[in-house]
Amino acid sequence: MADPMRDEELTLRDGRRVRLRPGGTADAESTLRNVNRVGEEEVYIMIEEVPNLEEERRWLSAFDGVRNVLFVAVADGDVIGAADCHAGAFRKDRHVGGVGISIQDGWREVGLGRRMMERVLEWMRVRGFAKAELAVFATNHRARRLYESLGFVEEGVRRRHVRIRGEFVDEILMGLWLGSEPAAAAP
Ligand SMILES: CC(C)(COP(=O)(O)OP(=O)(O)OC[C@H]1O[C@@H](n2cnc3c(N)ncnc32)[C@H](O)[C@@H]1OP(=O)(O)O)[C@@H](O)C(=O)NCCC(=O)NCCS
Repeated sequence: MADPMRDEELTLRDGRRVRLRPGGTADAESTLRNVNRVGEEEVYIMIEEVPNLEEERRWLSAFDGVRNVLFVAVADGDVIGAADCHAGAFRKDRHVGGVGISIQDGWREVGLGRRMMERVLEWMRVRGFAKAELAVFATNHRARRLYESLGFVEEGVRRRHVRIRGEFVDEILMGLWLGSEPAAAAP
């Protein structure tokens, strides 16, 4: 079985090459730029701005590759995409990992998102997670299609949960069972 923490060179659909590898505190300047570029677009992710390098470093220092992981896509030394997973904090939800992904404008729709999500899910399976979960704005059709094509199903809707440029937008909760489906315990 391949090591899910491997450092890999990918060729995207348009021929450009990127490195996909675990990220860490040494990437802080670059991941900060990446998240803030996506954040300032306002329509895709909850965060609009990480205010400083210190905060970014603090966030990055929590990734241990065991319960939490960050993968970055790097082109010409710059992080142009990041995907992360955080395990549930409690015994009752430790089997669940929450997933997030942000790819910069200019690097989208050439297959990178799928490759990054597949790597996160591969890592989750190796680490023994039973379920992946995420939240996506209802208006983010591209992301929803990607998640559905990976097998995620809609598990709930938080009605008008976010306000984007003055409009209320639903947040869709999606889940993917990674193992064989067990029977749910009776309520
Ligand atoms: C959403 C995101 C991760 C998708 O990654 P990507 O690299 O752009 O997408 P890919 O090229 O890997 O395409 C993956 C799938 O997305 C779907 N997709 C891609 N472009 C699409 C479009 N314009 N409309 C609808 N679906 C689309 C397709 O199902 C596609 O699969 P296919 O190419 O095998 O048919 C990426 O665009 C991104 O980070 N966007 C900004 C931030 C964001 O939205 N993050 C997610 C928050 S929940």
